Amino acid sequence: MIVLSFLVKIREKARMVGKTVVLPEGEDERVVTAAAKIVELGVAKPVVLGIKANMERVANDLGISLKGVDIIEIANSPKLDEYATKFAELRAKKGMTFEKAKEIMSTDPNFYGAMMVKMKDADAMVSGSDSPTADVLRAGLQIIGTKPGIKTVSSMFVMELTERQETYGEVLLFGDCSVIPVPTSEQLADIAEASVITAKNVVGMEGKVALMTFSTKGSASHPDIDVVKEAGNILKERGVTFPFEAEIQADAAIVKSVAMKKCPESKVAGSANILVFPNLAAGNIGYKLVQRLAGANAYGPLIQGLASPINDLSRGCSVDDIVNLVAITAVQAAE
Ligand code: ACO
Repeated sequence: MIVLSFLVKIREKARMVGKTVVLPEGEDERVVTAAAKIVELGVAKPVVLGIKANMERVANDLGISLKGVDIIEIANSPKLDEYATKFAELRAKKGMTFEKAKEIMSTDPNFYGAMMVKMKDADAMVSGSDSPTADVLRAGLQIIGTKPGIKTVSSMFVMELTERQETYGEVLLFGDCSVIPVPTSEQLADIAEASVITAKNVVGMEGKVALMTFSTKGSASHPDIDVVKEAGNILKERGVTFPFEAEIQADAAIVKSVAMKKCPESKVAGSANILVFPNLAAGNIGYKLVQRLAGANAYGPLIQGLASPINDLSRGCSVDDIVNLVAITAVQAAE
């Protein structure tokens, strides 16, 4: 079955790359359970931030073993001074002092976890089971920063279809569904480029990008449509080598018969596998509707553009969601 095959492939890759992934939310029972499962499956070496006695109590109650799980109590960490010094240096222009940096490092697991990644004490971080997306993203933006030459941090959902795969394919990528509220044309172009790389590295798929809006090739006019059209012009100017279509509606992007009517000359219409939404409202609503109404598995959001991977969980996540996102993140870390 396709659902299993994507996960099987990701888990296999993750096992091969052997990355260390920090999970900052050790007070969450799901994270403790996931850490044990991550060790059992061998998809990563988990480091969990939390109070050791609390985690051991949870493990005892659940009858699971924490053997192989590294636990760090951040308030007593011997690395606090080193991490605070680095954080103060990184945020000096924003007025960050050593004292303030130390207070944040000793109390905010997302910032401590991100600093572990920055200082190469871990390869990647997965958080968000107990913190809002913006908190996880801020830790990544402020501490890890963007990859050299990359201006935009964005995100992508791997949407694995459980039905109609013969029509739409097994996997579609949706972006940006969780980071940039109102992207500029430049940022939409960046999202398209980053998503093609994610498609290749995580899914092993050659990207065909549709930059979507509510018009197909001039069928309507509005300033919002112009932003998307301009993103297409920017991609052309950049000379990208992947196929893309800008200013296209969702049906023309993925339905062959509609594509034949609305833009028959397009190489992407009707067979796009990366759908770039015009803004966060559309993207966030879009992925949740496909997940709920069409029963698709949504993996992500996978954050793109950070110098090292940090990924964000939904607060409603299950233990398996955590394990799977850790496996995907480990694969990203091996890029
Ligand atoms: N790409 C690159 N750099 C960025 C980005 C970005 N997308 N966003 C912010 N930055 C920069 C900032 O300009 C800032 O730079 P500076 O330090 O040189 O001034 C730096 O990163 C740190 O940013 P902050 O000021 O800490 O964060 P900011 O207030 O800009 O907020 C955030 C960024 C958190 C991503 C915000 O845009 C946000 O809240 N986005 C929406 C998140 C969300 O709620 N998503 C919906 C739910 S997710 C879901 O349902 C799956």
